Amino acid sequence: MSSKQDILDSKVSEALQGGGEKRIDSQHKKGKLTARERVDLLLDEGSFEEIGMLATHRSSNFGLDKQKFLGDGVITGYGKVNGRLIYVFAQDFTVFGGSLAEIHAKKIVRIMDLAMQNGAPLIGLNDSGGARIQEGVVSLGGYADIFYRNTLASGVIPQISAIMGPCAGGAVYSPALTDFIYMVQDSSFMFVTGPNVVKTVTHEEVSSEELGGASTHSEKSGVSHFSVANDLACINDIKKLLQYIPQNCEEESPQYEYVPGNELRADLNSIIPENPNTPYDIKDVINALVDEGSFYEVQDSYAENIVCGFAFLGGKSIGVVANQPAFLAGVLDNNASNKSGRFVRFCDSFNIPLLVLEDVPGFLPGTDQEWNGIIKNGAKLLYAFCEATVPRITVITRKAYGGAYDVMNSKHIGADMNYAWPSAEIAVMGAKGAAEIIFRNDIKNSNDPEATWKEKEAEYADLFANPYNAAAHGFVDEVIEPAQTRKKLIRAFEMLKDKVTHLPKKKHGNIPL
Ligand code: HXC
Repeated sequence: MSSKQDILDSKVSEALQGGGEKRIDSQHKKGKLTARERVDLLLDEGSFEEIGMLATHRSSNFGLDKQKFLGDGVITGYGKVNGRLIYVFAQDFTVFGGSLAEIHAKKIVRIMDLAMQNGAPLIGLNDSGGARIQEGVVSLGGYADIFYRNTLASGVIPQISAIMGPCAGGAVYSPALTDFIYMVQDSSFMFVTGPNVVKTVTHEEVSSEELGGASTHSEKSGVSHFSVANDLACINDIKKLLQYIPQNCEEESPQYEYVPGNELRADLNSIIPENPNTPYDIKDVINALVDEGSFYEVQDSYAENIVCGFAFLGGKSIGVVANQPAFLAGVLDNNASNKSGRFVRFCDSFNIPLLVLEDVPGFLPGTDQEWNGIIKNGAKLLYAFCEATVPRITVITRKAYGGAYDVMNSKHIGADMNYAWPSAEIAVMGAKGAAEIIFRNDIKNSNDPEATWKEKEAEYADLFANPYNAAAHGFVDEVIEPAQTRKKLIRAFEMLKDKVTHLPKKKHGNIPL
């Protein structure tokens, strides 16, 4: 007769086998790791404490009573990443295809509640065929229980989703409610309705990959924030991201002991081209300003006209938002506004100070932009900055034109420090267009309209294509030599570290969604 310990050992061993050797082999053949392998890689060695290992479903529909797998297709628990507590769930595709049903959902909900109560990040590793078809409506209820908690947890604890296999139907809405989505190339997809339904309804022929693979969501839809080569890269990148973010909304952003060195960056003095219409790569500026090698870009293949990402500056984690003159001249459009607005809100939720680098010719004109709501999308970014109470610093490197000047963290909407480089041009619009409008009659009545236009353009540029008018009004706190920027930023963020600002009392605002 087995001892009580033997019974326990045998149950644990059964649970560790998931859906069994054959299904584990099949998972590996697809280039995917198992849920347990993923959890092991994510957490510091020996730190994982599993919760609910022996839970099973209690349905007898369609012969389910004869198919019981300990754990019910999801591994849940807590552990440490780089010494910091996190909560994790990992769906096990080898058990009912990782499909979600009553007990599977209850296990996830339990982890979410613990993460909320104890103020630590929640990491979800998704690999699932969706609602467990045999269990019917309880599966749907389980999803809704998770969505509800995702929403309540938003802005309280960081939530990170990795899509490491299928994620279809309503199941996509849990990751969509979280802060960041990683997608593994070639083995993951996300869509609300799959290729078959698409074909029936719209007669479009499309593959899963094209419809909702990692490249689609990182380049076209912007649903995904990081596209990664494989499971290992995915886990490593999640660990990297965690280094920049605090445990919860009550904590300060992470900081390491920084030893000051030579903070001058002489190369920045020659980075802006002579011709104001010649592009340069704003990422060169970012990399020169932040602590070496610390910039971690978010959504690097989506709306490339704006660059968002985390970095350390003088040892302190910050969020960087920067117009990219090397892509669409750094113009603000619908996608750029949505991307950066959401990033600003994440940083503000979790006390991560914001650095804005501005070189923006304005909002992108055109019917496509207007009909797709540039008014409300641009307002999202504006709203996000206006509401942000974290320390906020702007450096205008070159163009700051029109409404985009106001939107990009101007002093008027609450920025704490606004610097400009001598190359800055701060005006209602570019000199050529401005001259055409305000000197229309002079140009029309001139014997040499082209020459008059040029002359008036130069007149306008003289007055406004510089930072000094804005500085005279106090809209810019200081015009600085580019080489000095890193030093100034480290000092200014240090000066602002205890900033306290209160928003008016309200239930919640009504961001232009
Ligand atoms: C129960 C499921 C399942 C599901 C897969 N399996 N999906 N079991 N419920 N939803 C099981 C399979 O029976 C199989 O069991 C094992 O998982 C692996 O599945 P395969 O089909 O062999 O794997 P693969 O070829 O890789 O295809 C994966 C897949 C496909 C693309 C996910 O299985 C699939 O299309 N599944 C159905 C997806 C779906 O329609 N889900 C419901 C969506 S609606 P064995 O025993 O053979 O290993 C939804 C609504 C949510 O999710 C609403 C929330 C609001």
